[in-house]
Amino acid sequence: MKKIVTIIGARPQIIKAAALSRAIANQYSDQITEVIVHTGQHYDTNMSKVFIDELGIPNPNYNLNVGSASHGMQTARMIEGLETILLDEKPDFLVLYGDTNSTLAGAIAASKIHIPIVHIEAGLRSFNKKMPEEINRILCDHASTLLFSPTATGYNNLIREGFNSDSQAPFHPDHPGIFHCGDIMYDNSLFFKELAKSKSDILEKYGLADGQFILGTIHRNNNTDLPERLQAIFAALIEIAETYQENIVLPLHPRTSQLLEQNLGSDLYQKLQSTPTIKILPPVSFLDMIQLESNCKLVITDSGGVQKEAYFFQKPGIILRSETEWVEIVQEQAAIVTDADKEKILSAYYHFRSTEIGLKFPPLFGDGKAAEFICETILGIEPRTHGTGADCHDFYDWL
Ligand code: UD1
Ligand code: UDP
Repeated sequence: MKKIVTIIGARPQIIKAAALSRAIANQYSDQITEVIVHTGQHYDTNMSKVFIDELGIPNPNYNLNVGSASHGMQTARMIEGLETILLDEKPDFLVLYGDTNSTLAGAIAASKIHIPIVHIEAGLRSFNKKMPEEINRILCDHASTLLFSPTATGYNNLIREGFNSDSQAPFHPDHPGIFHCGDIMYDNSLFFKELAKSKSDILEKYGLADGQFILGTIHRNNNTDLPERLQAIFAALIEIAETYQENIVLPLHPRTSQLLEQNLGSDLYQKLQSTPTIKILPPVSFLDMIQLESNCKLVITDSGGVQKEAYFFQKPGIILRSETEWVEIVQEQAAIVTDADKEKILSAYYHFRSTEIGLKFPPLFGDGKAAEFICETILGIEPRTHGTGADCHDFYDWL
């Protein structure tokens, strides 16, 4: 029996963890035992508990309750708490997701006491070190023993940074193994899509018709905290809503809601309040979110996860950042990077208004079995699935 400790903390990690926990419960419960540690980075019910309840993730065995703080303070509190738990639990592996401060804290705590790290979503790079996530993911990758990349680009980034694609087991931090296994978020979208149709009533609740609304999310710190960027984004959204009578639905991260009035300034904030076709919602559950994603006409976002889910559900995307780690989506011309630039956002909107019909969404994110691939690699057995392999068409055929 192998013991893993999984760290969750921020919303997308809780969602990602559902895929691995599900695979363990369904197929590997006699070989892998999982202990879940929640750092408490996200703590509002609609940023944390809703996902644990809805997605069938086992209740965390520990919660560090670190809450919000500056990067250094938040990460330090996590490291201290995690070290104690890891020394106690003595797992075979620590499993880390993505690139948040919870990921970084786990990487530091485990590597110092020589617990091998599994990094899921390895190799992604924005090549922008002002982004806190870029530092977190680079440091985590370089402390890891098993690195699972969702995309070919991520895998190649690792090779460029010196990881050896030919390295063979036994793996350790000085001799890590890298794998291109597909995206566990794709596993989740496949699994939860049908459930969302039957369980979510969000479309009815807000009177949203299939294909008749735009979905947006905004939470990146450089968009929320810099008034001129937040103003440019909302000025574009208001123009789209007013000029084209588009319904725009915005489930907003608490960080954004808290700063909206202050950083938009009173004129723009008033204008937003008096634009009836823009609906601002609190954060929604994952089933509600994928119901919104699969029924909207266009996604406007600065979220990594939402960019990809737009692609999974064959919706065009406008990316409110200066770059993306998910470059394949842009190369396929299914999304346009506009940064927080009003004119670029408007021009991307006009583009997709006129060319939506011709868009293509070839499979890029694996075969929906990335979690099984990861479990089997952790167990040291030759994976029966080939996460990136052949057939992704089942999912696309359902759409
Ligand atoms: C974090 C991650 C980011 C990820 C995002 C997912 C880092 C550096 N950033 O950003 O990569 O995309 O999570 O959502 O780890 N807040 C609440 N309630 C909560 C959680 C947060 O009100 O439950 C507010 C607080 O004011 C807090 C702010 O949101 O200060 C930011 O939270 P934090 O976890 O520091 O960063 P995120 O912006 O959520
Ligand atoms: N999400 C959600 N409810 C929301 C907004 C996002 O369930 O109101 C989900 C979304 O479907 C995706 C994940 O949260 O799976 C993305 O998280 P987020 O945008 O917070 O972070 P990022 O992916 O940018 O790190």
